[in-house]
Amino acid sequence: MKQFLQLMLSVFVILTITSCQEQNMTTKTDDAVGQKVEELLNKMTLDEKVGQMNQYNGFWEATGPVPEGGDAKAKYEHLKTGMVGSVLNVKGAENVRKMQETVVKESRLGIPLIFGYDVIHGHKTLSPVPLAESASWDLAAIEKSARVAAIEASAVGINWTFAPMMDISRDARWGRVMEGGGEDPYLGGLIAAARVKGFQGDDLTKDNTIAACAKHFAGYGFSEAGRDYNTVDVGTSTLYNVIFPPFQAAIDADVKTVMNSFNVLNGIPATADEWLMRDILKKKWGFEGFVISDWGSGKEMIDHGFARDLEHVAELATNSGSDMDMESTANVKHLKALVESGKVKESTIDDAVRRILRVKFELGLMDDPYKYCSPEREKELIYHPDHQAAALDMAKKSIVLLKNENGLLPLKKDQKNIAVIGALADDKNSPLGSWRIGSDDNTAISVTEGLKAINSNFKYAKGADLVAGGPVSFINELKINETDKSGFAEAVNLAKGSEVVIMVLGEHGFQSGEGRSRAKLDLPGVQQELLETVYKVNKNIVLVLMNGRPLTIPWAAENIPAIVEGWQLGSQSGNAIAQILFGEYNPSGKLPMSFPRSVGQVPLYYNHFSTGRPGPIDLVFWTHYGDESNTPLYPFGYGLSYTTFEYGDLKIDATDNKNIKVSTTITNTGKVAGEEVAQLYIQDKVGSVVRPVKELKGFEKFNLEPGASKTLEFVLTEKELGFYDNQGKFIVEPGDFNVMIGTSSDKGSEGSFVLKAMNDVKN
Ligand code: NOJ
Repeated sequence: MKQFLQLMLSVFVILTITSCQEQNMTTKTDDAVGQKVEELLNKMTLDEKVGQMNQYNGFWEATGPVPEGGDAKAKYEHLKTGMVGSVLNVKGAENVRKMQETVVKESRLGIPLIFGYDVIHGHKTLSPVPLAESASWDLAAIEKSARVAAIEASAVGINWTFAPMMDISRDARWGRVMEGGGEDPYLGGLIAAARVKGFQGDDLTKDNTIAACAKHFAGYGFSEAGRDYNTVDVGTSTLYNVIFPPFQAAIDADVKTVMNSFNVLNGIPATADEWLMRDILKKKWGFEGFVISDWGSGKEMIDHGFARDLEHVAELATNSGSDMDMESTANVKHLKALVESGKVKESTIDDAVRRILRVKFELGLMDDPYKYCSPEREKELIYHPDHQAAALDMAKKSIVLLKNENGLLPLKKDQKNIAVIGALADDKNSPLGSWRIGSDDNTAISVTEGLKAINSNFKYAKGADLVAGGPVSFINELKINETDKSGFAEAVNLAKGSEVVIMVLGEHGFQSGEGRSRAKLDLPGVQQELLETVYKVNKNIVLVLMNGRPLTIPWAAENIPAIVEGWQLGSQSGNAIAQILFGEYNPSGKLPMSFPRSVGQVPLYYNHFSTGRPGPIDLVFWTHYGDESNTPLYPFGYGLSYTTFEYGDLKIDATDNKNIKVSTTITNTGKVAGEEVAQLYIQDKVGSVVRPVKELKGFEKFNLEPGASKTLEFVLTEKELGFYDNQGKFIVEPGDFNVMIGTSSDKGSEGSFVLKAMNDVKN
């Protein structure tokens, strides 16, 4: 009998696989988890299957709906009837447990919820915003930061984060650049993989690992004019070579879920783009997890002019491969009828549900739905000192020294008579950035607090408010102070009598992030004027920038002797900045995004193509601006140290076509130990699809004592030398290559080699 049942199950599995393959659905059913999924799926009614594909926002009281929550009562009832597969934004282990109990005890099959949350750069203890972390080029530290985030988040009941965001972006106007890995697909891919590994750990069934989510698939970082949610129009070469690689890296790192995006990509909303989700993601890349829509991105297809109504939304999104609906309520309202009318096949629903159940099994939720709900763990782990230490380490590594004329920095530890100016210097909220919904306001160490811990010989004057009043929150538009300069006089007086002035200027924490695009990239409000006014009385200024995106600061770059990029560095921000300023830590960060001179240059990125008229020539007929240089103010990969590094000539060995070796020796020529990020760039000089003028293909971060040298060897294989053609085929073309190993994308030792003929390597 047992053998007969096993035989029947095998037949069923084979039939299922065949039918899935026919429909371009590729869920795995032939492993142990797959078989458990099949058993459960077979017990489910159509309603219950549809329920798994539905996610609600959980701003309820855990034991019932909040009164003003619209249809919250009806939604809450859905928990009891198995009509909800996931909830996001439930706060606290106790509340998660209560909600999970409702579902497990009261619904027919008791399939546990998966609890999602935006754990972007920490949960309670916050690391630097992701763009800042990316400036560390330190993959181990970035992985650790995600690990710490997962430990804290899982301690409060969360088992799924909507991170990492891996949208490559070349447009600093887009507020969400703060959430990504910057402008480069190679660096972005490595960072995406590190973050996925950090969140998911090496064993997803543990109670301190959580499922990650690669978002936003795809193209969201290319919103036209940098305006959030705007249309995206990109060619296939950019899609395959720039936008896709970080997603591929995340899939290779076994990311469990993917989120599609708000934008229309080449005329099709990503939420209903069958080519993206089925052909590329699930079929070509073999992704076995599930796809969640972005918040209401299903419903927004009506505004896009793509779907007629909510029923149409459910049909289009589900048929295209969007497996779970975040807050559009399209699936829960219409999918059953759509199956009954034949517009959506039940096998399509089964494919989606299999994917969702697989992740729940893999997380261990089916064995223990309450494994993440331990108020004791929550109490013990939230804001744990080890997490604060990791956040501080990450913050120091994220800081980029942009300018240091005449060795103004580091300041002496016993430096007297310091002025500290700027509203952001005393701000405990802005350093947390905008994506910190799990954390608590005003919990960052401010710069003034950080300085005090090392040297309290300073006086503080705000100079001017950054914000003009009104609510400062995650959801409201921020009003910047554009007029009030009443504090200037106090700041000027203080600066006059001081030996050195530390000015902390930049963006408010809620000025970058989702919905926070800017048309101007300069210092907001009256800060530029404050800087210039103080400069008139004291030129000995250290400018510390606090911001979530590249800013245009040409005047400061010209006039201010020392500039430190201090981003939004999270809980330990002030300590990290102070340790850099007083030389307790030697800056080692490198920019993951180019800093423009003016906003008119944007989009600006180092790995652009050459035009047919690269110039310069004496006539006007070459690619340039009449009123601005083409080059960035600070290029991708740029960052100084308190020491200096010298790069020796390149040695290139191209005898083995599949392992081209490029090496150089780097020497610390300064007086202190320091870390350097040596970066390797190539240029494929002639391609069947034109290739960028430079592409990052390797880097190494290392420490050198003064006078010490290190020889680095990079090995270039087909993976680094090839690219995707416009059909999405990975090809390697023989021919001439330039290569550079340097300290930034615009400075290094150069050489060239010839790649002899090789066959195409993979599809
Ligand atoms: C919208 C954002 O685009 C997405 O990244 C986020 O995860 C969801 N909201 C849920 O908060």
